Amino acid sequence: VEASLTAQASVVISFIRERVPAELHYPKVAVICGSGLHHLADALNASPRIEIPFSDLPYFPLPTVDGHIGKLVFGFFGTVPTVCMVGRIHFYEGNPFTVSVFPVRMFSVMGISTLLVTNAAGGLNSEYKVGDLMVLNDHINFPGLAGWHPLKGPNDSLFGPRFLALSDAYDLELRQKLFESVNTLKLNRAIHEGVYAFVSGPTYETRAESRMLKMLGADAVGMSTVPEIIIARHSGMKVLAISLITNAVVTQPTPKASEGAANLSAGKANHEEVIEAARQAGEDMRALVLDVISRL
Ligand code: 6GU
Repeated sequence: VEASLTAQASVVISFIRERVPAELHYPKVAVICGSGLHHLADALNASPRIEIPFSDLPYFPLPTVDGHIGKLVFGFFGTVPTVCMVGRIHFYEGNPFTVSVFPVRMFSVMGISTLLVTNAAGGLNSEYKVGDLMVLNDHINFPGLAGWHPLKGPNDSLFGPRFLALSDAYDLELRQKLFESVNTLKLNRAIHEGVYAFVSGPTYETRAESRMLKMLGADAVGMSTVPEIIIARHSGMKVLAISLITNAVVTQPTPKASEGAANLSAGKANHEEVIEAARQAGEDMRALVLDVISRL
């Protein structure tokens, strides 16, 4: 018989609390570090700072993608006790949602009240440039609308309701605080507010798919974040989510063979470009995350 979610979470939490000092037994914030953004955890004070690889943790799934390491880092951002999740599990890796979103359930059982999620995303909005940031104020859950939903199955009412509203998923106060941080830091990159389309991946979108997403009102597209946000909201946590725009998605119709020569590969997405854009923005993201957490 499988242990209940709460029982599994309790096992992991006991394990963690044997390894981190008491002052970090109740982190206030969890930060999920997206593709190429694992250096966000470097902004934690040097001591105490405790790293625990996922591979040491019972019930934790292991990430399989380059640029995603898989560890929890406990420490303080300024004075705020925080856990950073470095490397996450994606839907396309093949784990059932019950496995892939387990860390977020565990965060809620730990007593964490705020989840800050970061990701690398493709820009659909033609005003977005590579290196810009986008605060999510809404999402489109494509797999979810089609029946691949992280809350599908029996509802665990210890966490939240069967029918969860998501019209207020993206906390207004947290977004306001983020803009206060942006203004204070005077970052040299644009920061937008917009709609994130979650798609399954692992392929990048075709041109026609990208146009469809754009027409439906998405400003950015990616393969993560939304399942975590839904679980966090179901568990009663507040959510702030930031996308780094790592590439401009190609939405122009495919050139027609009948109309002559054309370059099909211009603007084609690739993982290396995504990781490189994330690396370049790493320092600003770190400053931003540190500043906004100090305001919580
Ligand atoms: Cl263009 N698409 C998806 N699905 N995810 C991405 C991306 C694009 N760029 C970064 N992540």
